[in-house]
Amino acid sequence: MNEHVTQNPFPTSLLEEADGEGHNASDNATMGEIISKRFSRRNFLQGSLAVSAIAATVSPVALMSADEARAAGKAGSAFNFNEIEAGVDAKHHVAEGYNADVLLRWGDAVLPGAPSFDPLKQSAEAQAKQFGYNNDYVGFIPLKGSSTHGLLVVNHEYTNPHLMFPGLVKIVDGKVSQNKLSKEQVDVEMAAHGGTIVEIRKESGKWQVVADGKLNRRITSNTPMQITGPAAGHDRLKTAADPTGTRVFGTLNNCAGGVTPWGTYIMAEENFHGYFQGKLPEGHAEAANYKRYGVPEGSYEWGNFYDRFDLSKEPNEPNRFGWIVEVDAMDPTSTPKKRTALGRFKHEGAESIVAKSGKVVFYLGDDERFDYVYKFVTDGTFNPNDRKANMDLLDKGTLYVAKFGEDGSMQWLPLVHGQGPLTEANGFKSQADVLIETRKAGDLLGATKMDRPEDIQPNGVNGKVYVMLTNNTKRKADQVNAANPRAENAFGHIIEITEKDGDFAATAGKWEVLLKCGDPSVAAVGATFSTETTKNGWFGMPDNCAVDSAGRLWVATDGNSPKGTGRTDGLWAVDTEGSARATSKLFFRVPVGAEMCGPLFTPDDETAFVAVQHPGDGGEDWAGHGRPSYYEDLSTRWPDFKPDMPTRPAVVAITKIGGGKIAV
Ligand code: FEO
Ligand code: CA
Ligand code: CA
Repeated sequence: MNEHVTQNPFPTSLLEEADGEGHNASDNATMGEIISKRFSRRNFLQGSLAVSAIAATVSPVALMSADEARAAGKAGSAFNFNEIEAGVDAKHHVAEGYNADVLLRWGDAVLPGAPSFDPLKQSAEAQAKQFGYNNDYVGFIPLKGSSTHGLLVVNHEYTNPHLMFPGLVKIVDGKVSQNKLSKEQVDVEMAAHGGTIVEIRKESGKWQVVADGKLNRRITSNTPMQITGPAAGHDRLKTAADPTGTRVFGTLNNCAGGVTPWGTYIMAEENFHGYFQGKLPEGHAEAANYKRYGVPEGSYEWGNFYDRFDLSKEPNEPNRFGWIVEVDAMDPTSTPKKRTALGRFKHEGAESIVAKSGKVVFYLGDDERFDYVYKFVTDGTFNPNDRKANMDLLDKGTLYVAKFGEDGSMQWLPLVHGQGPLTEANGFKSQADVLIETRKAGDLLGATKMDRPEDIQPNGVNGKVYVMLTNNTKRKADQVNAANPRAENAFGHIIEITEKDGDFAATAGKWEVLLKCGDPSVAAVGATFSTETTKNGWFGMPDNCAVDSAGRLWVATDGNSPKGTGRTDGLWAVDTEGSARATSKLFFRVPVGAEMCGPLFTPDDETAFVAVQHPGDGGEDWAGHGRPSYYEDLSTRWPDFKPDMPTRPAVVAITKIGGGKIAV
């Protein structure tokens, strides 16, 4: 989700982790000066990386010669393609020699009987059969092991009413306002959230949706779900509609996600706080819990029509969101399960890998300034020969929170009731309490406060784990720590973790900063892209990422802008190995106002799916528009470019012209 709230005139559409609605008031060490000293010493000792970092920060001339080196093909990069120019316009762009075809747009048919998309007559009933809004996570579940036929699973994170509905925005004397939403519009929003499961097939080099796919499914904010794991049935999860504390309608704000080794679809619930409004009854026991999560934030208007989103009427409902949801995509009648064992926070994603022991490890980010990095290790082991045997692996296991040491070591601290400070004296009567208030448990364990942890990707080829840290402009100089080394970190960074003995289930490991992001030609930014990185290759705000089958890292960004970085968001190829380490190249970029989500490679590395989220959301700071962007006056009408069609978030399939693996 886009951080640039100040550029957006439509406060009701905003819902932002980055605004610190939740609040980490714990005094977990921000290790301060000792660490900044240590950090400069480490950089000095790190040889080539440090040298290139220093060169990159002080010498624009060095960058120009890097451009020339790249043009001559001397970079030693693992990626072979000619990068595109960074910039801003109304269209998407992909590297020469590649097709970037729009596969699925907001409003496209997913289920049989879906009406064709008519933005002037959109209804909840139509929306519930059509592709939802603001595609974020994209996963691919191969059918019969195929890389050209499978299920595409896509999260629909949130809605932008000012871009979706005609007649909502008014500008009078330069003042922008937005009308209240009708119940019908709220119902469309609820049906546009959630996820899509859709069969797709590649024929003659082009991906197509299988319109009558038997497994096609829409999941929305009203889909019945089951709550499982240690917090299921707890009193704090009970409501008037569900006295059992085990049944809940729908999922909210599904950001990144994952596909498990056994082929289920994981939807992470991120900024759930924004959907709640109203006041808790005076002296209510959940007050401190909700404050830590920023509940209620009241960005959405659903509580005007549905009591469960109003705290004064249904005070426990927020405890039923902020979980990891697992969906059996192979059974369209299956009930999605909220797996409480993986904790409750603003879950960004849930990428997984099978450890040496056969246990499965899920890496989890809590996307808020000063919040934490987590992982979950299953008790049971993955059975590759019996899919059914894996179906409840996510109900039993250990959740850990990361503590990054100032010496480059790290520990994974278990969030287990009764251990350390996680006791009744501190308000935890059971493991359910630990999970419902995961953030508080992390605070008490002394976890390291991070700069907005987003997607975290284990890499099975090189054995490392990559952590995207988007930014944190609120970090003060006395709050820097080794793993978050920049005050007022506007551009974010990427950490590389090496688990102990190469075991993803280990409880200790080492870490390095792979990359401090931002413009390397501005010394004050302190970015550490290699000198091989061109003026097009650097980026800010790493958010989602993918590792292809060759083990190469691809980074998608959220928050680049005409004014901030002179470029839109996009997909960058980032070298992690050898002399090219920390070299980045721009492969694809989105239209103005959009954020880059996905990305995902098919197992044969011949297709990259990317999700273009909230195109046209903004454009005031782009010379091509220069004023607020809303339904009637959009900064882009991507991807259709028809005067009667609004801009539509869409999934794009990138393939090499003539076929073959991408970027080799
Ligand atoms: Fe939904 Fe943290 O991005
Ligand atoms: Ca994200
Ligand atoms: Ca990912």
